[in-house]
Amino acid sequence: MALFGKKKDALPAPSLEDIVLPVHVGIIMDGNGRWAKKRGLPRKLGHREGAQVFRTITRYCSKIGIKYLTVYAFSTENWKRPEDEVGALMGLFKSYLQEALDDFQDDDIVVRFIGDKSGFSPELQKLMDDNIEISKDRKGMVLNIAMNYGSRDEIVRAVKNISEEVREGKLDAGSIDAQTISDHLYTAGQPDPDLIIRPSGEYRISNFMLWQSAYTEFVIMNKLWPDFRTADLDEALQIYSQRNRRYGGV
Ligand code: IPE
Ligand code: IPE
Ligand code: MG
Repeated sequence: MALFGKKKDALPAPSLEDIVLPVHVGIIMDGNGRWAKKRGLPRKLGHREGAQVFRTITRYCSKIGIKYLTVYAFSTENWKRPEDEVGALMGLFKSYLQEALDDFQDDDIVVRFIGDKSGFSPELQKLMDDNIEISKDRKGMVLNIAMNYGSRDEIVRAVKNISEEVREGKLDAGSIDAQTISDHLYTAGQPDPDLIIRPSGEYRISNFMLWQSAYTEFVIMNKLWPDFRTADLDEALQIYSQRNRRYGGV
């Protein structure tokens, strides 16, 4: 069941064929640990299950015509988790990025990463680079995998790069505007997310796309990520299509 999704007088949800799809969807893939705990399993098995769901939902988004999908896989704050959990996540990233090399080929998905790659092992960084290289000329959906991503970190990095360009005389400080900031984020050149979905029922953004989500529609869903199915995505899209986006206008 989606929270804050439906207005009291909302009409029955339109079918997917009748709705305007968001161009860019963000998903905070949350709730793996709780899913495992509920079953008396170690948290890492929740992550394994969540990784399967990531694959299914990614393929589905591409199939229905989403142009950009950004999934939050690992935050700059997630390093503070116990060593064995972080280790299990790194192991999963490795196997999924190996599979992703062919996995997303049939769907023509372009794979990119947002976040600070330098935090990962050389082996993982190479797999990330290989995925970027192998998929860069594809024409389908752009998949941004947010790994070692934190939006504050992203903004700090942008400010540093902008300052450097000013110092080198490449940029005039007086000409800095919102577009300049957008152009220095990991998502440079991509549209801002129209819809961000957070499963697991938490009402917070947890350092995800702070700048880019200024006018994003949020849908919080009560399902834990490993329980998330394509029907839940449909529901989020239907809720989104009933929202009235005003961008500060009337
Ligand atoms: C999301 O699930 C995955 C990562 C943050 C890597 P969690 O591991 O945060 O699961 P919960 O929120 O503790 O249930
Ligand atoms: C956000 O979830 C990060 C990812 C899903 C990768 P967290 O589980 O880390 O966020 P908090 O701690 O609940 O805010
Ligand atoms: Mg969590």
